[in-house]
Amino acid sequence: MKKILVAGGAGYIGSHTMTELLSEGYEVVCVDNLYNSSYEAVKRVEEITAKKIGFYQKDLLNKEDLSAIFAAERPEAVIMFAGYKAVGESVAKPLEYYYNNLVSLMNVCDVMRKHDCHNIIFSSSATVYGDPEKVPVTEESPKGEITNPYGQTKSMIEQILMDQANADKDLNVVLLRYFNPIGAHESGRIGEDPQGIPNNLVPYIAQVAVGRREVLHVFGNDYDTADGTGVRDYIHVVDLAKGHVSALRHMEKAPGLHIYNLGTGTGYSVLEVLHAYEKACGKKIPYVVDPRRAGDIAVNYCDPRKAFEEMGWKAEKTIEDMCADSYRWQSRNPKGYGETEHAPICLQS
Ligand code: NAD
Ligand code: UFG
Repeated sequence: MKKILVAGGAGYIGSHTMTELLSEGYEVVCVDNLYNSSYEAVKRVEEITAKKIGFYQKDLLNKEDLSAIFAAERPEAVIMFAGYKAVGESVAKPLEYYYNNLVSLMNVCDVMRKHDCHNIIFSSSATVYGDPEKVPVTEESPKGEITNPYGQTKSMIEQILMDQANADKDLNVVLLRYFNPIGAHESGRIGEDPQGIPNNLVPYIAQVAVGRREVLHVFGNDYDTADGTGVRDYIHVVDLAKGHVSALRHMEKAPGLHIYNLGTGTGYSVLEVLHAYEKACGKKIPYVVDPRRAGDIAVNYCDPRKAFEEMGWKAEKTIEDMCADSYRWQSRNPKGYGETEHAPICLQS
């Protein structure tokens, strides 16, 4: 495979994955409506890699536009990052979440089969395990009860892709269940740029570290964990991005359906992450303890061995690397990508 269509490529994980793909010699076509991202990220990926990206500012909900892009570009695989991802917002706007995430995915699949494209990698999430009975979770662990529409869309899309792979023997599907991606490219040029108040731990800490926010709110210190705060499997976004390159290579050798956890296999508590970040930035990060956040679980981390045994992929970077790279990005770009001009429209509909 040579040419990859990256749907949602301007976003946080997509931009890092495009960087790895280009560095590994793939050609990249990016389709993103820039709903939650900036064209500046695409330009910076081109700058880091000294390679060009075919960029289309288009909405995946528009099947005609997507079809025209496939006709023009003839990609051999799709990596599907596009979707809405804020858990709390999904509870308030379920229809928007189901519509955008499910219809985008179904449009992509329908257009793929009409254009002879038989390979798709999907961004799933540890959220499909719900509140696991046993950690570490393996790919065999049962799916759990999901408490929000965002998580439901991940689980439903997994099911759609499994059913479609079963019906269409030419279709190769890799479902990647990400644990908690954090950090940034070591250049400090691309990183996570949440709009408004960050929902996730590390982007919030990063904004406290650069003075954009006053104090971290720790959501609960009465969980059944060593220090009472929630434990997660944080993974460096560059390791995660490399997991997609491994998945592409693997699907050429081993067609069919595959599911992999992408994590490090080690859990860190909120306070452990906070202290690692303090070390990385050389500052104290003030925090207060708030009540638990609705829907949060105490502990989740994975057993990542299957990805290593089958695809030869494993996470290499430490929590120190994750915090240092996050801080480099945030301190050099305190306002993220800032105000940027609109992207050029490659294709008129
Ligand atoms: P992101 O919001 O930064 O990137 C998603 C991109 O998709 C954005 O650039 C957005 O503009 C685009 N998009 C959304 N709807 C679109 C549409 N209809 N048409 C075209 N483009 C559209 O998110 P991310 O953190 O990079 O996550 C990528 C994927 O990984 C998402 O599917 C997310 O649910 C999943 N995931 C993320 C995490 C995490 O912690 N970041 C964890 C597990 C899974
Ligand atoms: N936390 C805080 N303060 C904050 C933010 C988070 O204390 O301001 C705590 C949470 O309570 C949790 C830990 O930090 O214990 C991690 O929280 P995140 O929001 O960073 O990550 P989650 O594990 O809750 O959520 C992530 C993804 C979701 C996905 C979920 C399950 O962001 O998209 O994992 O896979 F659904």
